[in-house]
Amino acid sequence: MWKATVYTLFPDMFPGSLGQSIAGKALKQEKWDLKTVNIRDYATDKHKTVDDTSYGGGTGMVMRPDVVDAALIANVTPNTKLIYTSPKGKPLTQNMIRSWLADYPDGISILCGRYEGIDQRVLDSWQESHGLEDISIGDYVLSGGELAALVILDACIRLLPGVLEKPDATIIESFELDLLEYPQYTKPQIWNNKVVPDVLLSGDHKNIAAWRKIEAESITKTRRPDLWQRFQAKSK
Ligand code: ADE
Repeated sequence: MWKATVYTLFPDMFPGSLGQSIAGKALKQEKWDLKTVNIRDYATDKHKTVDDTSYGGGTGMVMRPDVVDAALIANVTPNTKLIYTSPKGKPLTQNMIRSWLADYPDGISILCGRYEGIDQRVLDSWQESHGLEDISIGDYVLSGGELAALVILDACIRLLPGVLEKPDATIIESFELDLLEYPQYTKPQIWNNKVVPDVLLSGDHKNIAAWRKIEAESITKTRRPDLWQRFQAKSK
């Protein structure tokens, strides 16, 4: 079974949102498995110290390399992608999610940092030995990596076999084609004096597909010129 292992000082943050809706249902159905490792359990002193002041000075606390290393060693899961969530990491993309699922069918392991981060030596050491990769979920700073881990796991879980009822839906969605998604409408047909575009009521699937393509291109062009450029380059 595809397994998520999360190394954290706040195991109570899991499964969190992943216990609800699509991911939660799949968890109950044993379509994926979750294990949290409390990094504090690997502290060796009587106060269970996991962090200390920063060499060179500064206000924040840094997580100790020996404690983080002990947690990783005791729970290492072979053939899983190892990630450290950090605003300094590579920006997360849908392509990364797809490639991890393809290359690491056993699952994913995510190390979550708190405070000012984790001592660089343990990150370097696991990068060298296990290909640990720093991943960011966006250009903003969260107070810890746990929410980023939930985001990464959610994006993975919905793509696992049997999790979505209509897996086709994922292929035409935003980003999968480098385009943002066209607008969606449902009942009632008239709401607040606003109508559903006629073409969607026509039953003409060819026209509907053409309309949706135009809408997707137009919204991508105005909102995400970066994606639009890439889409154009690819379609040449
Ligand atoms: N930890 C704190 N901020 C983060 C971000 N933007 N992405 C991933 N991990 C983080």
